[in-house]
Amino acid sequence: MDGGPVSAPAPERLEVLPVGGLPELRPGDDLPKLIAKCAPWLENGDVVVVTSKAVSKVEGQLRTVPSDVDGRDAARQQAISDEAVRVVAARGPTRIVQTRHGFVIAAAGVDASNVQNDEIALLPVDSDASAARIRAGISDALGVDVAVIVSDTAGRAWRVGVTDHAVGVAGMTALLSLRGETDPQGNVLIVTEVAVADEAAAAADLVKGKLTGIPVAVVRGLSTVDDGRGVSTLLRGGEDDMFSLGTAEALAEGRRQAVTARRSVRFFTAEPVDPEAVRRAVAAAITAPAPHHTTPWRFVLVETASVRERLLTAMRSRWAEDLAGDGFTPAQIARRLRRGDLLVEAPLLVVPCLVTTDGAHSYPDTRRSDAERTMFHVAMGAGVENFLVALAAEGLGSCWVSSTLFCADLVRAELDLPADWQPMGSVAVGHAAVAPADRPPRDPDAFLLRR
Ligand SMILES: Cc1cc2nc3c(=O)[nH]c(=O)nc-3n(C[C@H](O)[C@H](O)[C@H](O)COP(=O)(O)O)c2cc1C
Repeated sequence: MDGGPVSAPAPERLEVLPVGGLPELRPGDDLPKLIAKCAPWLENGDVVVVTSKAVSKVEGQLRTVPSDVDGRDAARQQAISDEAVRVVAARGPTRIVQTRHGFVIAAAGVDASNVQNDEIALLPVDSDASAARIRAGISDALGVDVAVIVSDTAGRAWRVGVTDHAVGVAGMTALLSLRGETDPQGNVLIVTEVAVADEAAAAADLVKGKLTGIPVAVVRGLSTVDDGRGVSTLLRGGEDDMFSLGTAEALAEGRRQAVTARRSVRFFTAEPVDPEAVRRAVAAAITAPAPHHTTPWRFVLVETASVRERLLTAMRSRWAEDLAGDGFTPAQIARRLRRGDLLVEAPLLVVPCLVTTDGAHSYPDTRRSDAERTMFHVAMGAGVENFLVALAAEGLGSCWVSSTLFCADLVRAELDLPADWQPMGSVAVGHAAVAPADRPPRDPDAFLLRR
């Protein structure tokens, strides 16, 4: 099929007919046969609009959930997370998400209405395919060629109230183009495209309604053509979506998610790390707070394989010497050294360094000079945490390990760093090979003291 939208003449008369008499639907029911039985009067060219909930029920897109209010809500929130590929907007428990089908819709279309109270319904897996199956089934049963729309109910970003729209289409063009047509005043229409499948879905809903228990209606009189492209032409995506970044709340939610997504990742795949992603993470790191308006953070990207090998070999020797000096046996030392393997195996090694020479105050007494040093150390921690969180937001795993802190002189020599750069551990960066285990829940109240 050619990709462009197509046009069809406007109807002279339109009828919207409810299909009554359908039984309560359950998984496995033959929906096309039931529709044919209740609407033997279907004609060629009719548009049969089926509520997605009915399709979800017969296709078993139901999840069993606890019947108590809290359990049901938690299960619903989980189902929304499972169906979502990204959060577009969020406020409190309400989430507008993009589903894996590509729809931007509240709660991922996960619905607890018109189902048993220990169930929730997800959208059909592939509503275009569902529409095509219903269309074929009706044709088999009645010998008529109808179009089928699977419809769902949704709110609109800028208008109050819900309407129905198409989530699956078969046998008709979802988007009609009036481009190039001339209006009665003689103006040539440049960009007008009509979401005719959405309009038909909304019209059908006028006779189906939310409370009547009628999940199917027929729009008769619409002249349909078929571009064979299903619902896809109705989905605005990529560069055409001016609101793809969503709301400030969604961005805040995304930031919260990035913070909690950061975990120490110790096993990486061989996939290389995108240097631009690291650059963006450094850009985030250097927005951390620091004393006296200073910018004490530096990040050494150890990119040259030979430099990294030399550095890590020297660090291992020093560590082994230290451990031997502490009285550890060779076997114990070997076991400990293996913990450093992640620095060898990570696709990228970064050494964060602290520079206090431009802006730290000096004091004659240790009380104040210790506090000054601590201030810069905590600022370094803030910078590195920003870095790690930003890496997590980029989908990268990391592990900040002490390592270079214990052999600063050696690291400065191997990396040819200025004398006032203080290595602050190292950060292994890469794509996680194994997802870290779930963090045990922590109760913020246990970390809080109020005065
Ligand atoms: C300053 C610092 C030094 C660390 N050193 C090591 C280390 O030497 N080896 C290691 O495996 N993890 C090291 N970690 C990571 C901690 O073990 C880890 O953050 C902690 O177990 C919590 O797990 P999470 O990061 O997944 O939340 C270090 C973390 C910090 C902040």
